[in-house]
Amino acid sequence: MYKITVLPGDGIGPEVTAQATRVLAASGRRMGVEFCFREALIGGAAYDAAGHPLPEETLALCREGDAVLLGAVGGPKWDQLPVHLRPEVGALLPLRKKLGVYANLRPARVFPALAGASTLKPEVVSGLDILVVRELTGGLYFGEKKREDIPGGQRVTETLVYTTEEIRRVARRAFELAGKRRKKLTSVDKANVLESSRLWREVVTAMAVDYPDVAVNHMLVDNCAMQLVRNPRQFDVLLTENLFGDILSDQAAQLTGSLGMLPSASLGDGTALYEPIHGSAPDIAGRQLANPVAAILSGAMLLRYSCGLEEGAAAIENAVTAVLEQGYRTADIMEPGKRQVGTAEMGRLIAELVGEK
Ligand code: NAD
Ligand code: IPM
Ligand code: MN
Repeated sequence: MYKITVLPGDGIGPEVTAQATRVLAASGRRMGVEFCFREALIGGAAYDAAGHPLPEETLALCREGDAVLLGAVGGPKWDQLPVHLRPEVGALLPLRKKLGVYANLRPARVFPALAGASTLKPEVVSGLDILVVRELTGGLYFGEKKREDIPGGQRVTETLVYTTEEIRRVARRAFELAGKRRKKLTSVDKANVLESSRLWREVVTAMAVDYPDVAVNHMLVDNCAMQLVRNPRQFDVLLTENLFGDILSDQAAQLTGSLGMLPSASLGDGTALYEPIHGSAPDIAGRQLANPVAAILSGAMLLRYSCGLEEGAAAIENAVTAVLEQGYRTADIMEPGKRQVGTAEMGRLIAELVGEK
């Protein structure tokens, strides 16, 4: 039996995690494996109920489970709270840090049925299969911050810290993953300006000799942003630091048709965390408009990386492919002639296929 901690969170978080757990349960039935889902509060929902966005009980449940599945946190209701109580800074970042999940895998794959759903031309995106490996527990997100009054206004300081070892451990994951894919690693930085990027580049360059089968190149982040829309299929694995990875992965998501398609796995040395890369989408929350596929595919990654259940992971990915082939679409990926369905209906269609042997 696998114990999965489920953190629905805010906005569309509960809507999409409900479908992800439904699909995971169906995969369990298919494989004869039992999952025990234990829900806990996080984010604005936790602040409202318990006065803190990351309650101790939530953290404890995450630590003792086999994996954590998270929806999303945040929303306008909590944007004015003191920063340490805000869902993002008070819950999500500390959760990632405390679980030590330094390597965030964000695969951007264009499903054949969705080649026309992107805002880019089908001939630019069809067949696209990129893996963004984003460093997740360092950089500007976690550096010291300071705000001071000075004559005429204020002065803020944000610090960006990386150690050699922090770069090495995430790079190692990226090299290993590239070795199992098309053997191409692009390390993205801003080495023409930032000292942290120069260290990043040195570390990755030095490691490359240990992975002779992986072709490595370095690219400046501004160029990479442009290349992602010019010719995204040149990329296999993109390795980058925390903030660059945040931005580039949302951009990569849109190549696949929607932010609602991109799952993620955040891996460290202990319990791993799985979440769609999108946020709480307050603009569509509560209306069954959210695409649950990113959350569902995060469940597939959970089976693959935390349970070693490749069969279940593949069953989920194949079911998503099949349901899209059948023409079902949520609003974000809707095209003329297709059948629009809501969040729960999309989840049900996928779960049904997964449950069939
Ligand atoms: P967002 O990702 O929530 O939404 C951006 C746009 O994409 C919106 O138009 C939204 O409707 C759409 N979208 C997102 N997910 C979708 C889905 N599954 N299906 C269909 N459409 C989808 O980003 P935002 O609006 O900038 O942020 C909203 C809140 O979410 C903020 O409070 C932010 O801090 C938070 N956030 C949380 C996470 C997280 O918990 N991991 C990630 C990103 C943003
Ligand atoms: C993401 C989100 C988070 C991040 C925010 C909500 C802290 O945008 O998971 O991509 O920047 O990491
Ligand atoms: Mn983001």
